[in-house]
Amino acid sequence: MLAKTPPMGWNSWNTFGVEINDKIIRETADAMVDLGYLDVGYNYLVIDDCWSEMQRDAQGRLVADRNKFPEGMKATADYVHEKGLKFGMYSCAGVRTCAGYPSSYGHEFEDARQFASWGVDFLKYDFCNFPSSGNGKNAYYTMSLALKATNREILFSPCQWGTDTPGRWMKSVGAHMYRSTGDIVDNFESFKNIAVSQIPDLCESSQGCFNDMDMLIVGMYGKGHVGLEGCNDEEYKTHFALWCLFGSPLIMGGDIRHLSETSRLLLQNKELLAINQDEECRPPQLVCDQMNQYSFVKHMSNNEFILAYFNFNDKESEVQLTFTIAGLPYYSGFGFEMVDIFTHEEIGIKYDYYNPVLPPHGCKLYRARLKRYE
Ligand code: GLA
Repeated sequence: MLAKTPPMGWNSWNTFGVEINDKIIRETADAMVDLGYLDVGYNYLVIDDCWSEMQRDAQGRLVADRNKFPEGMKATADYVHEKGLKFGMYSCAGVRTCAGYPSSYGHEFEDARQFASWGVDFLKYDFCNFPSSGNGKNAYYTMSLALKATNREILFSPCQWGTDTPGRWMKSVGAHMYRSTGDIVDNFESFKNIAVSQIPDLCESSQGCFNDMDMLIVGMYGKGHVGLEGCNDEEYKTHFALWCLFGSPLIMGGDIRHLSETSRLLLQNKELLAINQDEECRPPQLVCDQMNQYSFVKHMSNNEFILAYFNFNDKESEVQLTFTIAGLPYYSGFGFEMVDIFTHEEIGIKYDYYNPVLPPHGCKLYRARLKRYE
């Protein structure tokens, strides 16, 4: 089964945009293995838009850009596979991709066959330049069937930015993950707005088909294609913790050949990854939402809970989590025994509530177990 837990990997768009080529892809594949990303679960390497020639060949097939991929796409894919990684590519449901390259509208079955022949394991499928006479949902049904018709196991990753309430139908189409928002850029406002917009839809993401909150910006610091103001390390920590807690696919977007050590350690934080990859894939429950502060409780499969706090204010704030709102009244005789996920500090058993003080744009997460009042 594909997408038993949220898919993990890397995608070229956030950093490289149109400037991709075989050399960058091979070096990124090396980095994924040599710097420990594959070991913790990042196994898909995905080439986004701008990989092809501007025209199909005489037989109507998509052709890899001859300058960017001089040995052809199969050679790039083979290199990625030899590294023990899975290989992902990009096309679009419209007549041209978002960046104006040939796209799969009316070519779904032949393009899927082409992708399969190159060894593609993952297809991101965008929604630009879609004819107004066409049926958007149907285009996703068609590509899903076209991928199945290849008999190759290909993870299907629609990207239609939340048009048509995708959480209600994407799973039935055969999608393994689906984009639900517009594009992320590298600043605090962008990832905060994406996260807040998804809170009402947290339950529309489950094993087999996950709500994709877009590629990660961790470690970009304002550089690269979607690099704007950039974020500080506290903000990247909050961004990554949100994506892990909400069960989003974790598709890195920074230049992982050269990330700071702080960013690499964050992306490889085993405790955060365990939250994201928990086998029950339960979405968190929103407990408190007030004054730009949020707290959540997530049930884990091992009878533990994650208590998560986020402060989106520009100043230090106390964030509240009253246990009775999460279903644990004081009269139950139970409290939560808590350990800080980042510092491993043992907080002890808390009854009734726990309201830590958080830095601006910061977060705190705790692993907790139910404990009886002594
Ligand atoms: C859209 C998508 C992005 C990226 C670009 C490529 O904007 O949402 O993630 O794939 O297209 O052109």
